[in-house]
Amino acid sequence: MKIAMIGTGYVGLVSGACFSDFGHDVVCVDKDASKIEALNAGRMPIYEPGLDSLVAANVAAGRLSFTTDLAPAVAGADAVFIAVGTPSRRGDGHADLSYVFGAAEELAATLDHDCVIVTKSTVPVGTGDEVERILRDGAPGRLHSVASNPEFLREGAAIGDFKRPDRIVIGAEDAQGEAVLREVYRPLFLNEAPILVTRRRTAEMIKYAANAFLATKITFINEIADLCEAVGAEVQDVARGIGLDNRIGAKFLHAGPGYGGSCFPKDTLALLKTAQDNEVPLRLVEATVQANDLRKRAMGRKIIQAMGGNARGKTVALLGLTFKPNTDDMRDSPSLAIVQTLLDAGARVTAYDPEGMEIAAPMMPDVEMKQSAYAAAEGAHAVAIITEWDAFRALDLARLGSSMADKLFVDLRNIYRRDEVARHGFRHIAIGTRAE
Ligand SMILES: NC(=O)c1ccc[n+]([C@@H]2O[C@H](COP(=O)([O-])OP(=O)(O)OC[C@H]3O[C@@H](n4cnc5c(N)ncnc54)[C@H](O)[C@@H]3O)[C@@H](O)[C@H]2O)c1
Repeated sequence: MKIAMIGTGYVGLVSGACFSDFGHDVVCVDKDASKIEALNAGRMPIYEPGLDSLVAANVAAGRLSFTTDLAPAVAGADAVFIAVGTPSRRGDGHADLSYVFGAAEELAATLDHDCVIVTKSTVPVGTGDEVERILRDGAPGRLHSVASNPEFLREGAAIGDFKRPDRIVIGAEDAQGEAVLREVYRPLFLNEAPILVTRRRTAEMIKYAANAFLATKITFINEIADLCEAVGAEVQDVARGIGLDNRIGAKFLHAGPGYGGSCFPKDTLALLKTAQDNEVPLRLVEATVQANDLRKRAMGRKIIQAMGGNARGKTVALLGLTFKPNTDDMRDSPSLAIVQTLLDAGARVTAYDPEGMEIAAPMMPDVEMKQSAYAAAEGAHAVAIITEWDAFRALDLARLGSSMADKLFVDLRNIYRRDEVARHGFRHIAIGTRAE
């Protein structure tokens, strides 16, 4: 099949590379000329494990290419995917659909054949109807089919998620949309990926309901962690104790500094806006959003409290800045609020992140970026693990502590056992466990 991908960000690039790996002929389009230039020179604009070799192999095979030019990319395409950003609209939290509608308008003006247009971006219920209207008004007489195919990949594990998805959701209003999408994903049926075909609005809703549920699950265990600290219980054992119940499931039960990233914060807000517009209260999601917002700064205060309640003039070394490991994505990362809380309290902050520092540095200009965890810890009064990168799971604790001014180890991801940290003379503070 011939596929065009409009938007070559995390989702567009990974989806485009994987579709081409299935054997389809894929052209990825982006307005950002520097991104396309980098890709054409073999450089990845994002950090995602395995992406560079996947892209290189499919470019070499002649199945994958990159361009800023929409017209040749969509000429003769069987399916055109829209995978542009849908960030929070400034000021009100609604999804900003200007990129999606902009892409639809460009398609209406450019396509000279009937085609299936698929929204892969996360969009509020009813967006497909509006895309259809734009295409009808902009290209009268054309019979485009507009479908929804929400994406569930996780950054850091994106290729595996795309190639071995838990499910594929197709929202179609006509037989053509369903048939073309079934054909696009046919290579995955051989792996028996379940495919769920629904009406378009239902598919749009599934994506938001999934993200809101996962955000709520994380927030639930974070609040249980706080209660564990107050009553002397161990949240990791509680998480295991409930997660082994098949009705609950073990995933997304890791207590930590709160969720961040490019999806959960903006998608929960957008869902709440849809609910408000329709006068349907979603109290659980409201509580989740509020609890998570408060939690991020609370984590900064937790570090300060561990330092005796006063961080003025002291140095805190942060290990990890990205919202999760194996990505350089800094969007809505808890580290942003933690850094601000520490700086507001008069602390000096150093940091090391294996992949995120280039993007993080301009977002936190007062933080001193270092070239290793050990360099960040030099002279520090506390180290705090913010992101559970593998590189932080087996630190040489003797070396780490040897140059510190005070040996305090705050583990906001619960990746160390207290006894192994204490053995090297550290005081240990973690999440959802007794203070010491
Ligand atoms: N990042 C994730 O993990 C993830 C997972 C699932 C779903 N999603 C959803 O997928 C969508 C895309 O997310 P992302 O993280 O890939 O965004 P991104 O910001 O990384 O990429 C979007 C790209 O679209 C380009 N673009 C915008 N308008 C364009 C146009 N008219 N023509 C060509 N290119 C255009 C931008 O230049 C940018 O490169 C969002 O709706 C997001 O919610 C993201």
